[in-house]
Formats: sequence, C-alpha cells, structure tokens
Amino acid sequence: MKYFNPVILFGSLLLTELASATRLPSQFFNASVPRWKWWPNPGPLANGNKGQYLNLSSGVDLWYTTFGKNSSRHTPVLLLHGGTGNSNQMYHQANKLAETRQVILQDTRGEGRSPYINFTTFHYDDFTRDAIAILDHLNISRVAVVGWSDGAITGLDLAMNYSSRIERVFTHGANPQANMSIPGLNDPIINSDTGSLDSDFATNGTTYSVHGKRGLRKREQVYDCESLSPLPGNCTAMEEAVINMWNSEPTWGPEAMAKVKCPVWIVDGDHDTSVERNQADAMAAWIPFAGQLILPHVGHAALLEDPKFFNFAVEYFLDMKFDGVLPYY
Ligand SMILES: *[C@@H]1O[C@H](CO)[C@@H](O)[C@H](O)[C@H]1NC(C)=O
Ligand SMILES: *[C@@H]1O[C@H](CO)[C@@H](O)[C@H](O)[C@H]1NC(C)=O
Ligand SMILES: *[C@@H]1O[C@H](CO)[C@@H](O)[C@H](O)[C@H]1NC(C)=O
Ligand SMILES: *[C@@H]1O[C@H](CO)[C@@H](O)[C@H](O)[C@H]1NC(C)=O
Ligand SMILES: *[C@@H]1O[C@H](CO)[C@@H](O)[C@H](O)[C@H]1NC(C)=O
Ligand SMILES: *[C@@H]1O[C@H](CO)[C@@H](O)[C@H](O)[C@H]1NC(C)=O
Ligand SMILES: *[C@@H]1O[C@H](CO)[C@@H](O)[C@H](O)[C@H]1NC(C)=O
Ligand SMILES: *[C@@H]1O[C@H](CO)[C@@H](O)[C@H](O)[C@H]1NC(C)=O
Ligand SMILES: *[C@@H]1O[C@H](CO)[C@@H](O)[C@H](O)[C@H]1NC(C)=O
Repeated sequence: MKYFNPVILFGSLLLTELASATRLPSQFFNASVPRWKWWPNPGPLANGNKGQYLNLSSGVDLWYTTFGKNSSRHTPVLLLHGGTGNSNQMYHQANKLAETRQVILQDTRGEGRSPYINFTTFHYDDFTRDAIAILDHLNISRVAVVGWSDGAITGLDLAMNYSSRIERVFTHGANPQANMSIPGLNDPIINSDTGSLDSDFATNGTTYSVHGKRGLRKREQVYDCESLSPLPGNCTAMEEAVINMWNSEPTWGPEAMAKVKCPVWIVDGDHDTSVERNQADAMAAWIPFAGQLILPHVGHAALLEDPKFFNFAVEYFLDMKFDGVLPYY
C-alpha cells in the first residue's frame, strides 16, 4: 500500500523544516504539528545494518539480515517494511525484539538495498515467495510476521498461502483491495485529517472514511533507495512501478481472507489517511478470529511516530498464547 503521502503528510510543513529534521528523528518533534503528520525517518539496525544477498536464479537479488537472540521460547520474527522503503523503517521494532528473539528483515525486491533489475512489475505474490526463499535459505521453519503497509499485505499473503510457515501476523496499515471501494461506505468511523475526531452530524455521527492523494515525495535522508541501492539510477523507475502495483493489487475479498487461519491483528492508526479505516474494518471482519487495534493519535507511519506504544502492542501480540484459533488472556 501507499507509503508516501505528500499532500496529507507534509501539507503543513515547510520543506526547510523537513530538511533540518532529516537526520535525527527527535528533531522532528514539534508540538504544533500533530503526531500523525511527523513521519520520522528510518534509523539504524542494531547489528550495524549488516546484511547479505540471496541471489535468486531468476537474477533477482534480495538483501536480508538476521540478528538477535536465539531463543527456544520465542518464534523468530520476520519484519516486512513498507512500499518503496527498506528494512530500516522497522528499526524500532527490530532492535527491541532482537533483545529477546531472532529477527529477520528483508529489503523487498527492487527496493532499498535490493536492486531493481531482472524483473519489471511488482507483485505481492512475488514478495511473498521471496520471503519464503529467505526463510528456506536460513532453514527457518516458522516465523511470526510484523508487517507495515506493503509488508503487512505480504504478511497476509504469507498467512493465506504458507500456513505451516506462519505462526501469527501483526499487520499495520494493510488494505485488501487496491480500488479502495469496499465495504462499509456508511462505516461509522472517523478518519479525519483535521485532527478532530468529529463526526458528520448531517449523517447522525457517521463519517465516511477518507483517503489522501497518492504520490511520492523524496526526502533527503540516509535510508532511502538512492543511498542504499546498488542501482540508485533505477530508484525512480522502481517508485513508478510500485505505484502501478498499488493501483491494481491486492484484490482480496472475504474468500481470500478466510484462508488466513493463524492469529492476526489488523492494526491501523486512527489518523491513517493512506488507508481508509473501512479497509481495516473489512479485513478484521473477513479474517476468522482476527483482532483489531486502532492506535491513538498516529497515522500510517505509527511505527515511527509512536514506537513505544507500537512496540508494546507488537510484543503483547507476539507473547500472547493461543489455544487453537482463539486467544486466551
Ligand atoms: C512548528 O510547526 C509550526 C507549524 O508548522 C511552525 O509554525 C513552527 O515554526 C514550528 N516550530 C519549530 C520550532 O520548528
Ligand atoms: C540480471 O541482470 C544482469 C545485469 O543486467 C545480467 O547480467 C544478468 O544476466 C541478469 N540475470 C538474469 C538471470 O537474467
Ligand atoms: C548478489 O547480488 C548482489 C546485489 O546485486 C551483488 O552485488 C552480488 O555480486 C551478487 N552475488 C553473486 C554471487 O552474484
Ligand atoms: C542464532 O541466530 C543467528 C541470528 O541471530 C544465526 O545466524 C545463527 O545461525 C543461529 N544459531 C543457531 C545455532 O541457530
Ligand atoms: C495467496 O492466496 C491469495 C488468495 O487466494 C491469492 O490471490 C494469491 O495469489 C496467493 N499467493 C501466493 C504467493 O500463492
Ligand atoms: C541449512 O541447512 C542445510 C542442510 O542442513 C545446510 O547445508 C545449510 O548450510 C543451512 N543453511 C544455513 C543458513 O544455516
Ligand atoms: C438522523 O436521525 C434522525 C432521527 O432518527 C432521522 O430522522 C434522520 O433521517 C437521520 N438522518 C440521516 C441522514 O440518516
Ligand atoms: C536498471 O539498471 C540497469 C543497469 O543500469 C539497466 O540496464 C536497466 O535498464 C534499469 N532498469 C530500469 C527499469 O530502469
Ligand atoms: C474493487 O475490487 C474488488 C476486488 O478486485 C472488486 O470485487 C470490486 O468490484 C471492485 N470495486 C469497484 C468499485 O471497482
């Protein structure tokens, strides 16, 4: 799903403010700017960003890394980043989880350190098979998945099709259908860009979910495609090709979602303007026994905007015991 959302996210910010805030996320704090518009930059992985390539026979080269504590108590965790991004977007989660368990991160094919070469179009099913290829390569039989946006969609694709490999999925900011149509046009949920969780009184408190304009804005930062990719000259083409995917995938309805049998939390920010709330509601309704979590005062980039709360939710979910499909507390 959409990772960048310039009009909505940067509408009230001056470019100079962004430029001065690029290197240190803490400098991005500005009490006049609501948290769901901060969109802090990615940061370093605790293993010094060391990683390797898995070079597939198709010519596609996948960058991945694994670090953390080996643990018999904890299932390894696969962290999947957002569209056009890279693994460093997940640094708050990876570094925290690595204190207690093994984490695995991959830069999606064509994105980040994985060069855009030897394939043309982007597909969630390819991301899914790539993740399995990395797990096979590492001899890891089963993982829990924490995914953001495109990574969250890939997490669901994994759970649908590789149930024996996936223990549970924490999906933040996923959408089931590219066309953003369904369902619940009368969803009594607020997805306000103004900051006030006000309702539309004309419809008796029912507010239509909204979504922001699509598009990309480059931000000067260390962790972007141009800085990381072995083929930085292909980054713009990559972004365009990823947008084409966003415009056509996924196309999942209740039947596809019903294939997900593992524990799932459908998570989203209460001010996510990249993915409408009704998309999250639909998935939570369609996936058997899914839980839904709406995080307060954050947007699509919740994992960067409020890592403390986000990490708490992730760890709580990962540690939760499940008896069959039903959680017990
Ligand atoms: C905080 O943001 C407001 C609104 O954009 C701006 O007017 C103000 O100058 C910013 N303050 C700082 C310290 O950057
Ligand atoms: C992948 O691309 C490189 C560079 O263009 C080329 O040399 C190589 O033959 C390609 N590999 C495959 C399997 O297509
Ligand atoms: C694997 O892919 C990386 C990134 O494209 C490349 O630098 C490296 O040479 C490749 N390794 C082999 C053995 O082809
Ligand atoms: C322990 O985990 C690391 C990754 O953190 C991995 O490279 C290593 O192979 C693991 N060792 C065993 C014995 O599983
Ligand atoms: C996973 O399942 C969905 C729903 O049936 C399907 O659309 C998709 O192609 C499958 N993905 C893979 C990688 O097999
Ligand atoms: C995975 O297992 C195979 C067969 O036991 C072994 O040859 C290979 O080195 C293992 N790979 C890793 C990354 O541990
Ligand atoms: C709002 O509620 C009132 C009272 O139940 C009802 O008469 C009216 O038709 C409702 N308006 C809409 C737009 O649903
Ligand atoms: C990516 O880079 C390679 C090598 O520079 C080039 O041959 C290829 O055409 C580029 N692909 C795209 C889609 O820009
Ligand atoms: C949106 O996409 C879904 C899945 O492909 C499809 O069933 C539905 O008819 C589409 N809705 C519109 C309005 O195009």
